[in-house]
Amino acid sequence: MTPRRIGILTAGGDSPGLNAAIRAVGKSAIGRYGMRVVGIRDGFRGLVENRVEELESEALAGILTRGGTILGTSRDKPHKLRVGDQTIDMTARVCENYANLHLDALVCLGGGGTHSSAQRLLDAGLNIITLPKTIDNDIAHTDTTIGFDTALSIATEAIDRLHSTAHSHHRIIVVQIMGHNAGWLTLGAGLASGADVVLIPELPYDVEYVAESIRQRSMGGHGFSIVAVAERAKPQSPADLGLTDEASTGGLAFEFAGPTLALTHRLESLTRLEARLTILGHVQRGGTPTATDRTLATRLGTAGADAVADGARGVMVAARGESTALVDVAAVAGQRKTVPLDHPWILAARDTGLCLGVPLD
Ligand code: F6P
Repeated sequence: MTPRRIGILTAGGDSPGLNAAIRAVGKSAIGRYGMRVVGIRDGFRGLVENRVEELESEALAGILTRGGTILGTSRDKPHKLRVGDQTIDMTARVCENYANLHLDALVCLGGGGTHSSAQRLLDAGLNIITLPKTIDNDIAHTDTTIGFDTALSIATEAIDRLHSTAHSHHRIIVVQIMGHNAGWLTLGAGLASGADVVLIPELPYDVEYVAESIRQRSMGGHGFSIVAVAERAKPQSPADLGLTDEASTGGLAFEFAGPTLALTHRLESLTRLEARLTILGHVQRGGTPTATDRTLATRLGTAGADAVADGARGVMVAARGESTALVDVAAVAGQRKTVPLDHPWILAARDTGLCLGVPLD
């Protein structure tokens, strides 16, 4: 039987292109397949609390270019939902509300955490279709993710702007870029903007080696350097930055900012060049999506509606070249796509003289 009614939600950190994807799923489900679409507020929490709204065609108009998500999002997981002072497993409530809403499928737009939650709900008997979104580009079995291209463009433009001020003041500018445990954003933006040093989680760095590459630039007449650091890049030894183990247990903000700040100070003292730190933070997730993200979101969204109409169950709609592919959520949940050390971006960085924090063959 053709599905008649689907739910849609966005979960995890927002990323540019979510509204374009909601629009594509909705327009195609309603216009092409005659389905009804229910929007669920604030990720899985909205399904627990039954905060839903019927999405008519008018609600989907004018949102293609908007950043954020019209549905709202949260990082809440159905099996570990914070309610007052307690953490409760709400899987049964989610299943109850899914049944009461007469949903034939739930389309979840999310990243790594969302795929793990999706797998639990599949195990509980729901039908879930996912679309990969995250600025981190770290979802397995898809070429890319909704939001990555926009964040990459923002980070690249930011480094371009830091270049001219670093050059004028003969400074080191360290710029911290998001990406969770993957270096895609930092490496991509570093390559695109011609950063001098790129430090990513996949390659623990040697701070002395980094300082030496900056000293060499200085001796060669380049008195400034741009150091692009992924938020979770790590030194080979925390002691190299004068960090103790406690430095990484002081909460997320400190865990990310602390080592990058320590690196900035250390480079200043090792090179005797003035150094400044810029943390790009959530700027990378805000604002209107690029044309690439809008078209990616639109083709993944329409393929998502096709998958539901064809009766697919438990699959992620992956980007595969110019096309799409359906991949079992089970193969994606719990996996993270990090940068392989033989990736063409790594080789291109090495071959153009970019310092990656350690010597590479
Ligand atoms: O996963 C996307 C991401 O932007 C990461 O790059 C970053 O570490 C994290 O989310 C920040 O999360 P929050 O918005 O919850 O601070």
